[in-house]
Amino acid sequence: MDDHHLDGYYYTGQTPFRKPDESAFRFHARRLIAIQTLGRLEYQVEEAETKFNRALGPVELTFVGLGAVIGTGVFVLMGKAAAEQAGPSVTISFLLGGFVSGIAALSYSEMASMIPIAGSAYTYAYASIGELAAWIIGWDLILEYMVGAATVSVGWSAYMVVFLQDAFNVTVPEKWCKAPVIWKSDISAFERTSSVFNAPAFLISLAVTTIIYFGIHMTARINNIFVVFKVLVLVIVIFSMIPFVKPENYHPYIPTEYGVKGMLEGASTVFFAYIGFDSVSTTAQEARDPQVNLPIGIMATIVIATIIYVGVSVVTVGVVRYPTHDPISDSPMVDVVRLTGMKWLVLLTELGALAATSSVILVLLIAQPRVLYAMANDGLIPRFFANVHSTYKTPSTSTLISGILCAFAGGLLPIQVLSEISSVGTIFAYFVVNIGVIILRYTRKTVPRRFKVPGGPFLLPGIGAASSLLLLQGAKQDAIIRLLVWMALGLLIYIFYGRRHSEINNPRLEEQSMRVIHENFSTNTINYTGYMDDDLRQQHARQMARQMDYDQPRRRRQSDYTVDGRPSLEHGVRDLGHSYEMSGLPPNGSSPFDDGLSDGAVDSGHGVGASTASEGHQEPMEDVIDVPDHVGAPTEAKDQSSYSSRTSSQSLQASPHPYPEMAHVSPRLS
Ligand code: ALA
Repeated sequence: MDDHHLDGYYYTGQTPFRKPDESAFRFHARRLIAIQTLGRLEYQVEEAETKFNRALGPVELTFVGLGAVIGTGVFVLMGKAAAEQAGPSVTISFLLGGFVSGIAALSYSEMASMIPIAGSAYTYAYASIGELAAWIIGWDLILEYMVGAATVSVGWSAYMVVFLQDAFNVTVPEKWCKAPVIWKSDISAFERTSSVFNAPAFLISLAVTTIIYFGIHMTARINNIFVVFKVLVLVIVIFSMIPFVKPENYHPYIPTEYGVKGMLEGASTVFFAYIGFDSVSTTAQEARDPQVNLPIGIMATIVIATIIYVGVSVVTVGVVRYPTHDPISDSPMVDVVRLTGMKWLVLLTELGALAATSSVILVLLIAQPRVLYAMANDGLIPRFFANVHSTYKTPSTSTLISGILCAFAGGLLPIQVLSEISSVGTIFAYFVVNIGVIILRYTRKTVPRRFKVPGGPFLLPGIGAASSLLLLQGAKQDAIIRLLVWMALGLLIYIFYGRRHSEINNPRLEEQSMRVIHENFSTNTINYTGYMDDDLRQQHARQMARQMDYDQPRRRRQSDYTVDGRPSLEHGVRDLGHSYEMSGLPPNGSSPFDDGLSDGAVDSGHGVGASTASEGHQEPMEDVIDVPDHVGAPTEAKDQSSYSSRTSSQSLQASPHPYPEMAHVSPRLS
């Protein structure tokens, strides 16, 4: 047996080739909505199982979420929103932001419990809407994670500068701690400032990237320390400021000059404070029992963050009379704390802000490479983005690339530009995930979901999608234009690279780690003599049968068996090492797909991971017998229960190739 058998195959359920009577338009349009089957995603998880460490439980995942969430939003933007938009009602703004994010969080949780793969919203879109949508989201997530991290690095820089001043009386020259350009919205152009480079922002991103490079264990530990510290600081701030609250500052609760509109605008500002909870779902392949723990981590993050934000905002607007028309500094929370006269609390708040922003950068820069990893695995971006470091078990190449790009973005661009792009990018991702939940409830009805959005498929995801659109609509025009420009650039890359290299649409790539089995409409199969109507009819019939089979309860599959406590590395269908001329049904007249493949490769209609093993019909191990010699070594055959799942006594020898339809697809066989 050569090495081929170690390479897995996965059936995609799609036709990557142009069908005989198909118009070019239809062919290309169909490719744009090609979806990832859950089966193939499951394969990817299993394949990556030995590459990543499963180190994160529910508590660690909640820490990941809190790590990504509590940062610039509360330490910087809350003050700005209270001063310029909402006054005391900024508390309601936080509740509204939490509501929109909370609904998105429910949708993310359902998706994560169904498809626990590193790609997060990108993968969810690929499995529900199709390749183009997935590309758009993957490209968009760069705005949320990489640009988000760059935004927060600028916030970190601002707090570092005041901290050095307050603690050590050291003044960092403005030349080296501000962006060299600012955005002038009146003329819609950047304008040069007297600064050269935001060095602290640049350095913090590089430092964080170095930590992440060396593995999820260390990163998780450092993140945990930062999270505990920042939450403690915020709790201390809340309780120490209560005695300074003046009830009259709460009147009028909604300032007359800003009104309800201001409160809503405040909501879209402080929305930034919730960004990042979804990074929990990008660590899916490093999570233990992800179907259960990801939803816990995501929802706990939103609930805890909302409670803290409401607490902080209530005391802050009680201590200071908002709105104020005084200029707001870049460290408004420290300004409020300074009013209490407690020097120690000022320093503590500054340290808390530094820890908070550091952990946000840390987690967002963990999330970004994992999305790139997933995209590279699907062939949409070059393969090297999927490199996993053999010792540190992190996606090392994408970690370095994201970290370096983020560092330069933070060093060169102003915070408003960065935060606006990051917010609109995130809102757009929420929109797609909400829609994805609705679609998957219909297209993948019976796939197990350990967590479901309550209230049916339409109510909450529908409200979530609509409120995302409202927030988008309320975003600044500049930000929308930037989003559109970014997307146009992405589309060009997709047209010239992604579309041509995507694995599910281009099955004949050499050197792909996993080969994919597609519907056989190829006209260039070796010895293949062309199409006859009969062939097509039979193939369509089989496809229909498989779709019906899709949602059936699963049967035991190879990955349910483990070797030394680990899932076996051999999945799906092995390479049988020889070619076969395909012409309709196999000699015994049965569909080659109706049992064998439906166990392993075609029956992809179940959740990912072995935890669903107990469901549905299960084959006793004894059924797995009599695998003919040419199929493979007996030790490997034991896992291929699928060979004989219809009747264990059925002779496979009747067909020269148990899966004739797949014989032609391997580029290496011919
Ligand atoms: N939610 C994160 C923050 O507030 C991005 O900094």
